[in-house]
Amino acid sequence: MNIREITKNVHYVGVNDRTTDRFEGLWPLPYGVSYNSYIVKGENKTALIDTVEIGSIRDFFHSLMSQIGSEGIDYVVVNHMEPDHSGGLNAVLEAYPSAKLVGNKQTMAMVKGYYHIPDDRLLEIKDGEEIDLGGKTLRFYFTPMVHWPETMMTYVKEDGILFSGDAFGTFGALNGGVTDQEMETDWYIPEMYRYYSNIVGKYGRFVQKALEKTSGLDIKFICSTHGPVWNGRIGEIVGIYDRLSKYESEPGVTIIYGSMYGNTAEVAEEIARELAARGVRNIKIHNAAKSNLSDMISDAFRYEGLIVGAPTYSMKIFPPVEAFMSAMETREIKNKVLATFGSFTWASASHKLLMEYAGKCKLDVVASLEMKHAVNGDIHRAISELADRVVEALKK
Ligand code: FEO
Repeated sequence: MNIREITKNVHYVGVNDRTTDRFEGLWPLPYGVSYNSYIVKGENKTALIDTVEIGSIRDFFHSLMSQIGSEGIDYVVVNHMEPDHSGGLNAVLEAYPSAKLVGNKQTMAMVKGYYHIPDDRLLEIKDGEEIDLGGKTLRFYFTPMVHWPETMMTYVKEDGILFSGDAFGTFGALNGGVTDQEMETDWYIPEMYRYYSNIVGKYGRFVQKALEKTSGLDIKFICSTHGPVWNGRIGEIVGIYDRLSKYESEPGVTIIYGSMYGNTAEVAEEIARELAARGVRNIKIHNAAKSNLSDMISDAFRYEGLIVGAPTYSMKIFPPVEAFMSAMETREIKNKVLATFGSFTWASASHKLLMEYAGKCKLDVVASLEMKHAVNGDIHRAISELADRVVEALKK
């Protein structure tokens, strides 16, 4: 059995990267990442779908050779231009001098800008256009902003395969198998939440458009650019992307706080205990100075309640909490039950500034409190009231 053959004459030629520390130079990769690339062999022509990040080029050619040997490539389809997928383009076009690079108008501008690829190597296609490889037909669906403006998906109608670009992708390298039938894939689900919220999170309405556009297709395999090929779990995976892109969340509360000397942390811990006492069972608490921003964003997307607190620091929000709120604003976070708490010693700022962030996110604050110096009887009462209001709002 060739574990890389997804279905007859469609092969996985991607690579695992277990070396890079941070994706996009930002997001931790504790379990690595895969850069997925695929070969589609028709009776007359062969197409390569996407390439890999430049640092993995040697592994990529080994992977490619293992599947096609000395056979040629006629088309190199660029579903997505971000360099984690386009880094291998120049090397591939050099190795296969008669291959044409296939993409849309936006792709063409980017390949010229990034890689100086000459016009005579480019084949621009339109939305809905098809290329016949002989018994395998590639049909192109433009899906802009999932996750860049040029992103598109490629569908092989004879096999029901959707090459979906970043959509339905996850962090995490592939452990031996390629499809979800060939390996345990439960552990990718939290990595999918993290991947979606960190990378694609800002573009929910475009993901919705893409889901709508491809909803009538008969899909047997989803071949994303990252993570497993989905086959047995397609309904579940599409459901996760559908919910996340609608900013729908699960029962639970994320508490994000910063604290210099433990007083604001005390408020965070007490809020959590008060919520637990009122029956909230899924509570995630992050000290923003210690947790990774990636995990905080992921939990904030995943759970319906969000409570954020910070001391005043040089008349601003304590910096790691400000970074988190800025990430929420960037991702246009919606549909959250939000509460805030601020603290100060001699001049108040964080309380007001957290409220301003809520306004910029167009979120209502269901409860807030402000503490001067340290926890006292009034603060205990305010915490209890805040927990009441959050639980009430969650019930709605
Ligand atoms: Fe995996 Fe948007 O690149």
